[in-house]
Amino acid sequence: MPNPGPGRARPRNRGPDRLFYPERHSNPRPRTPVSIPFRTVLVTGASAGIGAACARAFAGVGARLVLAARRTDRLEGLASELRDAHGTEAHLLALDVRDAEAVAGTLAGLPPEWAEIDVLVNNAGLGRGLEKVQEGNVADWDEMVDTNVKGLLYVTRALVPGMVARGRGHVIDIGSVAGHEVYPGGAVYCATKHAVGAITKGLRMDLLGTGVRVSTVDPGMVETEFSVVRFRGDHARADRVYAGMTPLVADDIADAVLWCATRPPHVNIDEIIVKPTDQASATLVARR
Ligand SMILES: NC(=O)c1ccc[n+]([C@@H]2O[C@H](COP(=O)([O-])OP(=O)(O)OC[C@H]3O[C@@H](n4cnc5c(N)ncnc54)[C@H](OP(=O)(O)O)[C@@H]3O)[C@@H](O)[C@H]2O)c1
Repeated sequence: MPNPGPGRARPRNRGPDRLFYPERHSNPRPRTPVSIPFRTVLVTGASAGIGAACARAFAGVGARLVLAARRTDRLEGLASELRDAHGTEAHLLALDVRDAEAVAGTLAGLPPEWAEIDVLVNNAGLGRGLEKVQEGNVADWDEMVDTNVKGLLYVTRALVPGMVARGRGHVIDIGSVAGHEVYPGGAVYCATKHAVGAITKGLRMDLLGTGVRVSTVDPGMVETEFSVVRFRGDHARADRVYAGMTPLVADDIADAVLWCATRPPHVNIDEIIVKPTDQASATLVARR
């Protein structure tokens, strides 16, 4: 490893890290070193939106990918794109994160060459409807809680023990501004994302001293299939969510996720909130 320079402690290198220290001699203010402390990255909900963008971002820096979702045709298309673009190796998992047994069995059954997950991106999630609680649909509540909260826990439970045993790893949860605020009609979705925030914070405490990092990246409005799913295929209603404003795109969130993952191993990014410039809060949006 190159010398980190005068007055700077060498970060502990726990694993297959490749640390790149920029040339210091010509730069009076050394930049933070960029680190790629991972080889294999697992992304849930990789078949669309932010998950697919994260897969592309990690593939771009040479990671091998385990891609999980229910729509495996989408995963196959993405894997083929990344193989052509970067020579990326990918292992695909047909997985419904709501199914506790399937999650435990599938992840315990990863082939040995895919079993060591360095980064877990807990991204699979959804919103359903915008009904008031007193008019709400119980099946929608169950789906949001089972996916966004329980599914995230099942995947985390299955993969974190391996990270602890190896003394390194990184869990990056995709939360939301809905984990910081509540908006009308969003009580249950916001509750699930508040829960993601609590789980992320608690997990960081539970993993203290293990070398495993825990982060959350919390987006504001991102134009993906999210609103089409929320409004059950009503594209016109989904389009109105982003009318007259410039939303984020999935790559904007993937950039933040990759940035968290590429800090040196002694740096833990706890939380990043990313909103469009046209959005000041969950409900305050500039439209032209
Ligand atoms: N878009 C936004 O404005 C926004 C803002 C804040 C936070 N988020 C969060 O960002 C994450 C990704 O959302 P997105 O915007 O990228 O939405 P998206 O385009 O609809 O993608 C959602 C992904 O989650 C997967 N998924 C949903 N239910 C699943 C299940 N039961 N098992 C496995 N995978 C499942 C879907 O895959 P399959 O259907 O193929 O299984 C899909 O790949 C979610 O957690 C969402 O809450 C989004």
